[in-house]
Amino acid sequence: MTPISHYAVFGQPINHSKSPRIHQLFAEQTEQVLSYDAREVSANDFQQTAQDFFEQGGLGLNCTVPLKELAWQFADKLTQRAQLAKAVNTLALQSDGTILGDNTDGIGLVTDLIKNQGLTLKDKSLLVLGAGGASRGILMPLLEQSPQKIVIANRTVSKALQLASEFKQLGAIQGGSFEELAGQSFDLIINATSASLNNQLPPLPANILATNGSCYDLAYSKNPTAFVRWGQQNNAIKSLDGLGMLIEQAAESFFIWRSTRPKTQAIIALLNLERPHF
Ligand code: ATR
Repeated sequence: MTPISHYAVFGQPINHSKSPRIHQLFAEQTEQVLSYDAREVSANDFQQTAQDFFEQGGLGLNCTVPLKELAWQFADKLTQRAQLAKAVNTLALQSDGTILGDNTDGIGLVTDLIKNQGLTLKDKSLLVLGAGGASRGILMPLLEQSPQKIVIANRTVSKALQLASEFKQLGAIQGGSFEELAGQSFDLIINATSASLNNQLPPLPANILATNGSCYDLAYSKNPTAFVRWGQQNNAIKSLDGLGMLIEQAAESFFIWRSTRPKTQAIIALLNLERPHF
């Protein structure tokens, strides 16, 4: 009999995590024998709990809020995208016993935008709202798609300027305030602020969304977020939330661990069916 391989997601809070269900669906689809649990782990306990997990035979971990920066420090080696993101959502035991840290959030977003939604990023103007950890995690995979430019707008302008300067060797990127956006328009606006979590909206000027433009909120919830509703009201061709990204980042983690790529579309459709307002 094949021994069961153990995986888990650590975070706090963790009880509403969809990851165990998503990875179980991937395992069934690809006929892999594995377990995947959600464990409530505080920042204080992370180092010891992660060490114990791998010592007891665990093969891979996902890390979510508030542990991504700690996971970045925990990893022995980092992929380039994780290095730049300064955050890790995927830890994988390697054959030499070391732990690789990767960040699959950005590639999950790009896959959802391009493959699932049929959007193009090449030569398009992109606006990223927010300059915290969520923004940092998506910038490299977005720049790899050769957009015409990325503008980062943030309430605290210095953070947007800092982020732009860290990524400028990878493409056309600039930072600034929300006020400076007046008069500009963008093909795709990505909300990477945590405003949605409080049902708030970043302060967006009128006519900021180009004709045929789209909106994407990295957050997701059962009902449309304030930003998804803003996109709908501002005639976005597509106004999406981050459920697709969640499933695609999970698929990328699964691939890192299992070297097999699950098919995501049926699973996205299944989870969307459970949200009657979408
Ligand atoms: P995360 O890891 O989710 O990115 P974070 O690093 O705390 O969390 O960053 C949160 C981001 O959301 C920041 O860019 C924050 O702006 P500030 O840097 O000015 O604090 C932004 N944010 C949170 N609430 C917001 C709101 N109501 N309007 C605009 N931006 C908001």
